[in-house]
Amino acid sequence: MAMIEVKNVTKSYGDLTVLKNFSVDFDQTGVTVLIGPSGTGKSTLLRCINGLETIDDGDILVNGRSVRQKKNLKPIRLECGMVFQQTVLFPQMDVLHNLTMSPIKLQGVSKAEAEEKARFYLDKVGLLSKEKSRHNELSGGEQQRIAIARALMMNPKALLLDEVTSALDPEMTSEVLKLLESLAAEGVCMLCVTHEMQFARHVASRILFMEKGSLASDTSAEEFFTTVRQNNERINKFLQFIGE
Ligand SMILES: Nc1ncnc2c1ncn2[C@@H]1O[C@H](COP(=O)(O)OP(=O)(O)O)[C@@H](O)[C@H]1O
Ligand SMILES: [Mg+2]
Repeated sequence: MAMIEVKNVTKSYGDLTVLKNFSVDFDQTGVTVLIGPSGTGKSTLLRCINGLETIDDGDILVNGRSVRQKKNLKPIRLECGMVFQQTVLFPQMDVLHNLTMSPIKLQGVSKAEAEEKARFYLDKVGLLSKEKSRHNELSGGEQQRIAIARALMMNPKALLLDEVTSALDPEMTSEVLKLLESLAAEGVCMLCVTHEMQFARHVASRILFMEKGSLASDTSAEEFFTTVRQNNERINKFLQFIGE
């Protein structure tokens, strides 16, 4: 059984059908990069997997649990940590408290244990010195690294990352990508929407290309940048468009 099974999912907003009978599976291994033109349904897919959007037809199972059942949403969100393009940390709390809040509230972890774990992850993302800082005292890259640390606090089985570097300048982008690369090397499973093709080449094991709510390509990264690109004019054009 795959960790995430998306089965014949249809999702519409009013008259606009965003996902059309969409199916894909993800195992709990490696990094999958999801690319495709803007407005094609990438964010919608991630949000449906995490139960942030309801689906109209089909089903999504995370570790065998359907997103269609309300009682499953909490465990699904614990298993799939999600980080967005711009993450706002809770502004009234310092960084340490941002990290410890959910484990204490949702997992019943003690404060001392949660703080120890938070410092472990802050160290991992290179921001141990920022535990007392608040959202507005951090750069965009630091905010994203803290958001990733906060997601890791819940021991997710997979991270869903939606264009986590697209609001950042190049220097901050590279610090966040380096972090993701090191997490990937440690075996953290990720499903990332990104247009960072250097990252995709070096870190992804699998690349999905989505177009108009359907999966146009699903191959290894190596195959994607060679055979698929050579044989698929649309994909080649898209890669040229994003400067690859
Ligand atoms: N909450 C919403 N209400 C109405 N339309 C939406 C909503 N969210 C997304 N859409 C539309 O669905 C389509 C797919 O959006 P999205 O999944 O964000 O695409 P992508 O992430 O690939 O750029 C777009 O046309 C977008 O305008
Ligand atoms: Mg999007």
